[in-house]
Amino acid sequence: LTNRTKKALFCVCVIVDELHSHIFFFPAFAISYSRLSVFILILCGCIFGGLMGENGTNMTCPDVCHCPSDDYISCIKLGLRSIPQDLPPSADSLNLEGNQLRVLLFNAFKRVPLLQYLWINQNNLTFLYPGSFISLNNLRELNLSKNPRLTYLHAHTFRGLLNLVSMDVSHCNIFEIHPLVFSHVVSLETLDLGFNKIHYIPEALRKLHNMTKLSLENNQIEAIGKNSFKTQHMLQELSLRRNQIWVIENDAFNQLNKLTVLNLGHNSLSHLPNPIFRGLLQLKIIYLEANRISIINCSFNSLINLKKLHLNNNHIEQITHNAFSSLTHLQMIHLSKNNLTFIPSYLFSHMSKLKNVFLSSNPWRCDCSMAWTANWMLTYNGAIHGLHCIFAVSYGSTSDVFTQRGVLCPQQEVTDDRCMESSTSASSDPLLQTSLICNK
Ligand SMILES: *[C@@H]1O[C@H](CO)[C@@H](O)[C@H](O)[C@H]1NC(C)=O
Ligand SMILES: *[C@@H]1O[C@H](CO)[C@@H](O)[C@H](O)[C@H]1NC(C)=O
Ligand SMILES: *[C@@H]1O[C@H](CO)[C@@H](O)[C@H](O)[C@H]1NC(C)=O
Ligand SMILES: *[C@@H]1O[C@H](CO)[C@@H](O)[C@H](O)[C@H]1NC(C)=O
Ligand SMILES: *[C@@H]1O[C@H](CO)[C@@H](O)[C@H](O)[C@H]1NC(C)=O
Repeated sequence: LTNRTKKALFCVCVIVDELHSHIFFFPAFAISYSRLSVFILILCGCIFGGLMGENGTNMTCPDVCHCPSDDYISCIKLGLRSIPQDLPPSADSLNLEGNQLRVLLFNAFKRVPLLQYLWINQNNLTFLYPGSFISLNNLRELNLSKNPRLTYLHAHTFRGLLNLVSMDVSHCNIFEIHPLVFSHVVSLETLDLGFNKIHYIPEALRKLHNMTKLSLENNQIEAIGKNSFKTQHMLQELSLRRNQIWVIENDAFNQLNKLTVLNLGHNSLSHLPNPIFRGLLQLKIIYLEANRISIINCSFNSLINLKKLHLNNNHIEQITHNAFSSLTHLQMIHLSKNNLTFIPSYLFSHMSKLKNVFLSSNPWRCDCSMAWTANWMLTYNGAIHGLHCIFAVSYGSTSDVFTQRGVLCPQQEVTDDRCMESSTSASSDPLLQTSLICNK
C-alpha cells in the first residue's frame, strides 16, 4: 500500500466509524446540522490534508496541547475530560498526564494507531472499557499510575496491545485482577502493580513468561504459594516489599533462577524454613529488613552468588554457626537493630569480599563468645559498624584474647562445615560449648 492509499483507507474508516457511532446513538432523522457539518469537516480534512497534499500528513498539533516534536503530543495538566479529537495519526507518543479523564471507551485511541508511548497517569479513570486500547498494537509503554478510582482490571482491558513491553498500574486502588487480563499482553517485560489493594499474587501473572521486572510493593498480600511464580523464568527483579507476607511455601522461588534482586522487606515473616530460597542461584541482593525473624539457620545456603544481605530491624537472637557458609561472595551484611548478644565464631571469615558489616543497636555481651572478632579484625579489610567490644590480644600471639577484665578466653575453632540438609544437633555446636565455658 502506498502512503496515499493508506491515508485514504484510514479516512474512510474514520468516516464510517463516525457514521456508525452516530447512527448507533441517534436515529438517522435526528442527525443535527452541526453533526452533519462535522462529517463534512472530516471529509474535507481528509481530502485536503490526506489525499491532496503529498506530504501533508495533517500533522497539526491539537489546539489545547503542545507538541515539542512532530511525533510527541503533550497534553499535560489541562483539565481535559475527554481525549482531544484532533490528534495527528502519525504520533508515536501521547502524554495525557494530570487530566480528568474518567472512562476510556472502546477503541479510545483509534486516531493514533502508531502510538508507542502512552501516559494517562494522574487522571480520574474509573473504568477502562474492554478493548479501550484495541488499535494500539505498536504500543510499547503504558502508564496508568495514580488513578485512585481504578479498582478492577477486566479480562479484555488490554486487548490489542500485542507489543507492550512496560506497564505501570501503580498507585491505583486495584483489588481485583481478572485471571485472563494479561493474556493479551504476553510480551510484557516490566509490570508495576505497586501501591494497590491486592490481597494475593494474581493468577493472571502466569501468562507473562517474558517478564523481567515485577513490583507488587505496598499491597496486602499475606502468602506466597509454591505456584505463585511458577512461570516467571525470566524474572530478574521482584519486589514484594511492604505487604503482610507471613508465609512462603517451600520452593515458591524455585523457578526463578535468573532473579538477581528479591525484596521482602517490611513484611511479617517470622520463620525462614531452610529450603525457602532454593533455586535462587543468581540472587545478588535480598532485602528482609523489618520482618519478625528471630533465628537464622541454613536458609541462605542456596544463595551462592549473594552480595548484599539486609536483615536489619528484625528480632534475630540466634545465628547458627554455619548459616552463611555458602556466601563466599558476600560484600555487605546488615544486622543492625536485632536482638543479638553474640555472633558465632568466625561467621564471616570465609567471606573474602566482605566490605561492610552493620551491627549497631544489638545487645552485645562482649564476652568470650565474641572474642574471635579480635582475631578476625587483624585480617579483615572492610568496615565494621556498631560493634564496640574491646578485647586485648596478648603479645607474641594472635590467638590469645583477653577480655576487659583480664580473663583469657579459650581459643575457638574455625568451623568450616557446610550447612547440611541433615540435622546437626544444637548441643554438639562448639560455639555453644565455648560460650558456656566463658560464662563460668
Ligand atoms: C472523579 O470522578 C468521580 C466520578 O467518577 C467524581 O465524583 C469525582 O469528583 C472526580 N474527581 C476529580 C478530582 O475530578
Ligand atoms: C508513570 O508515571 C509516574 C508519574 O505519575 C512516574 O512516576 C512513573 O515513573 C511512570 N512509570 C513509568 C514506568 O515510567
Ligand atoms: C519473549 O522473549 C523472547 C526473547 O527475547 C522473544 O523471542 C519472544 O518473542 C518473546 N515472547 C513474546 C510473547 O513477546
Ligand atoms: C530479646 O531476647 C530476649 C532473650 O534473650 C527476650 O527476652 C526479649 O523478649 C527479646 N526481645 C525482642 C524484641 O525480641
Ligand atoms: C538448623 O537446621 C538444621 C537442619 O538443617 C536442624 O537440624 C537444626 O535443628 C536447625 N537449628 C536450629 C537452631 O533451628
